[in-house]
Amino acid sequence: MTESGSVAPVVGVIGGGQLARMLAEAAAPLGITIKVLAAANDEGASDIVVDVLSGAPDDRDAIRRLAAIVDVVTIDHENVDWQTLAELESEGVAVWPSVETLRLSDKAHQRRTFAEMGLPVPPFAVVSVGQGSADDRAGALDQSLTFLTEHGNSDGRIVAKASRGGYDGRGVWILDAAELPAFIDDYQGAPLVLEPLLDLELELAVLAARNPSGETRVWPVVETVQVDGMCDEVIMPAQVPEALAQQAIALGREVLERTGSVGVLAVELFVSGGELLINEIAPRVHNSGHVTIEANQTSQFEQHLRAVLDWPLGPTECVAPAAVMHNVVGDTSDPRANQAAGLAIFPGAHVHLYGKTPRPARKLGHVTVMGEDVETCRTTAEAVAAALTAQAKGSR
Ligand SMILES: Nc1ncnc2c1ncn2[C@@H]1O[C@H](COP(=O)(O)OP(=O)(O)OP(=O)(O)O)[C@@H](O)[C@H]1O
Ligand SMILES: [Mg+2]
Repeated sequence: MTESGSVAPVVGVIGGGQLARMLAEAAAPLGITIKVLAAANDEGASDIVVDVLSGAPDDRDAIRRLAAIVDVVTIDHENVDWQTLAELESEGVAVWPSVETLRLSDKAHQRRTFAEMGLPVPPFAVVSVGQGSADDRAGALDQSLTFLTEHGNSDGRIVAKASRGGYDGRGVWILDAAELPAFIDDYQGAPLVLEPLLDLELELAVLAARNPSGETRVWPVVETVQVDGMCDEVIMPAQVPEALAQQAIALGREVLERTGSVGVLAVELFVSGGELLINEIAPRVHNSGHVTIEANQTSQFEQHLRAVLDWPLGPTECVAPAAVMHNVVGDTSDPRANQAAGLAIFPGAHVHLYGKTPRPARKLGHVTVMGEDVETCRTTAEAVAAALTAQAKGSR
């Protein structure tokens, strides 16, 4: 029997989105119980998880209520109350990823830490509008214009990113010198990370996992394709020279080991000028790893559960020559009414819908197609995803 009083191990997840939902799907066959802390019942997990506690991810009491009934606490997203998790850690509760790792999801702290470690990151500066006084804003504008002079691209543009709270490209802005004054004037929120607008050849992601005993596993490197700053497609394996793939995997493994992260860790990489740079990490299961559900011997969701429970990790090899995941993003109709139309395009498609109400640009699900070659998988997965969201156009 475990600390929670249950025979089955109990994993508590803060946040009730699609990642919590897919963790619960992976937990069932292993005999693991999942309890989720969710703010709204439209986030994805609530309609398949039996034990949902109602509460916000920054609600101290709610986090403590969850921690009291589980063996280990993990997360669906990083915007949780780190202070409460730090208290729980000091009381001996198993919290994975650790608060130290979780703090790295602050992009400013992450960049500084990685730069100090000598890991390859783009040039950057951190600027803050402080309390928002005229002086604070003038200082931030000065610093931003200086950064732009030194690192602006040939069109004189840079990228500004909110260090906390952004996701799916929300919290990422491309700016030139003419736009900066109004932007800095209006900006409210966490410090900004500035970086050059890079010419990207490709974006890659390395998914890796580690358990508290130190066992590690890394999946084959994938290519990610972003549309409007949001992940749209994931291609397994990445179509890059073997030497670059090996370099990416080595870098992912180095980040995993240097950070001591426990659970799944996603390392997003830029390929620019033939060189690898770390864009950012996510210390959790990640959109770039959804393809692993069908395409690899162990999925990122099962691996994360094994890791946080300090169980042996599973092999990560691909089970098909090629696999492509395409996100299903909010459009004109609800994909929950269009499954048959999607499957009619390719009956072998793996359709995952998260149970979320459609809104434009909201991730509602994903489709994975496996096959012999990447190009056929790409075309098919895209067509299935399109049929899931656009069925209403004209025909209904
Ligand atoms: N410096 C840059 N130069 C060129 N493109 C960039 C740069 N920074 C970000 N991008 C583009 O914007 C995307 C989103 O950026 P980033 O990963 O920093 O934001 P995010 O909102 O935290 O992302 P996520 O969707 O992973 O939560 C990147 O994947 C990349 O396509
Ligand atoms: Mg990103």
